[in-house]
Amino acid sequence: MSKLLNRRNLLKYGAAGVAGLGLHRLVKGMDAFSPPPSNAYPGYIKEPLGRYIYLTPQKLGGGTHAVDLEVGKTLAWISYWNYGDSCPISHHVAAFPPDHGDPYKGFEFVNSTQGGDNVLMYGIPTRIKENGLLGRYGEGNHIYRVGYDGAANQMELLEDISETTGIGLGVHTTIFPDGEGFACADGQKDVTAFFTRARGKEKTKVLMAFRADWVPNSPHLGETWTKGGKIRLQRLAMAKELGKYDLEGTRGNKLNYEMAPMAELLVERGQIPGDSPQTLTGLDFSQHDPRGRWSIMLLRMCGGGIVLDRKNWEPVCFLYGAEKGDHNIPIKKISSSPDTWEIVLPAVFNPTHEGGFTPSGSHWVVMNNLRANNVGVFDSSDGDPRKWKRITHVTDPSWVGEYPSPFHVCFSVDGSKMFLSVLRPKPAKSDVVVVDTKTWKIIKTFPNVGVDCQTMHVTYDGKYVLQIFSGFQRMEAGAFVFRQDTLDPVGYMPNFGGHHDCVIVPSKVEELKWSRSSTV
Ligand code: CU
Ligand code: CU
Repeated sequence: MSKLLNRRNLLKYGAAGVAGLGLHRLVKGMDAFSPPPSNAYPGYIKEPLGRYIYLTPQKLGGGTHAVDLEVGKTLAWISYWNYGDSCPISHHVAAFPPDHGDPYKGFEFVNSTQGGDNVLMYGIPTRIKENGLLGRYGEGNHIYRVGYDGAANQMELLEDISETTGIGLGVHTTIFPDGEGFACADGQKDVTAFFTRARGKEKTKVLMAFRADWVPNSPHLGETWTKGGKIRLQRLAMAKELGKYDLEGTRGNKLNYEMAPMAELLVERGQIPGDSPQTLTGLDFSQHDPRGRWSIMLLRMCGGGIVLDRKNWEPVCFLYGAEKGDHNIPIKKISSSPDTWEIVLPAVFNPTHEGGFTPSGSHWVVMNNLRANNVGVFDSSDGDPRKWKRITHVTDPSWVGEYPSPFHVCFSVDGSKMFLSVLRPKPAKSDVVVVDTKTWKIIKTFPNVGVDCQTMHVTYDGKYVLQIFSGFQRMEAGAFVFRQDTLDPVGYMPNFGGHHDCVIVPSKVEELKWSRSSTV
């Protein structure tokens, strides 16, 4: 253990833990600590990164801003507390390609927010709850639709989709590959919904909504997932009297705050309180096959995802990510009032989290966190998802125990490389690795990039990768840039706020395959 990380400092940093994970997790991660920060990377980036707009949500900063990558200035920004939201945790973003094809003229994006007790996870000595700010106007789970108007050079809140539809969700947002709708989900409620794309003053409509519940075999919380059970997927209906759904704010939450990255096992240990942890599936996101027809609804606690046919809104099969267990599991309809399906899992060896499709849709990858600590790779080239199979795992000799752990994923524009952020517990800096998508072997590691590396995004011209690192725990924040082709580091750019996501605004529909549509 280095001097820097003596026990006193550990306690100091550990009080808040890795996103509040607690001290023992941090100590566990110590073996995996990388050497102290080096000057291996160029400092400030010295080149413009192209005519692109980089949109980054600020998490605890409460808003989202757009950076012009060509000239290096903030183009415009928005802060949701200005609109009466008393706890806006600006969480995930996805941007629509504008119809006119030029994001600088204007574009729209959707931005999920969390609220409520989620702000209490980071060890901030705050009075926000005592002061009443987490009540009615601070429950979070808003889905804001925001427009950037290039003529006015300003961002404007266009719609709170949770208010319009009655569905409040706070996690990943993903645009359909045709750009004509999007999905959002929430792992505290286990609800995912698919929405139309509204433009300007139009209002968003719900296309379909589902909830996934877990029915465990064992009555003991510690065995809730490991001893197996059933996933029950149900189609949700609108409340007749209200004319909309009844899922705004904290309504429907099974947990009082979200599972932080790599926090799935805390649920079975009873360390995340809530109304119904034993029915949790952790439905954190829906993401889309770039070929257009299929979506995957990912269940963190159940170690995989349900493939959904967006043509008829019927679930097709379940893909299980870790090495122990069958990879493709059938799904059975058990009721039509309302539509309900069941998937039987004899055991869940391992939780899963982020994932993504290659730009061609040939493969789907998923992060097998914690026990397995690797990346499951499925061959998804067949036209029938029931024939998709797990073919290999991406792994690294250092991925032992819970950390370091592969986290977010994206792909190079030519599809030849997969980029993964690899999380280490703060205050250690996380890594980025590059994987060859032919051999599924790691070909390069960038160690010590920044604290809490989150999502990455590629520039659509095939030149750069931007790795956002977080700072949502009041620490360093920014974007690390490297080349997609030569894999040379380019340097850092400042980016203020506590990021958890980032997206480069697409200018055309085809670019969505590399955007927040197919990968999270
Ligand atoms: Cu998150
Ligand atoms: Cu997630």
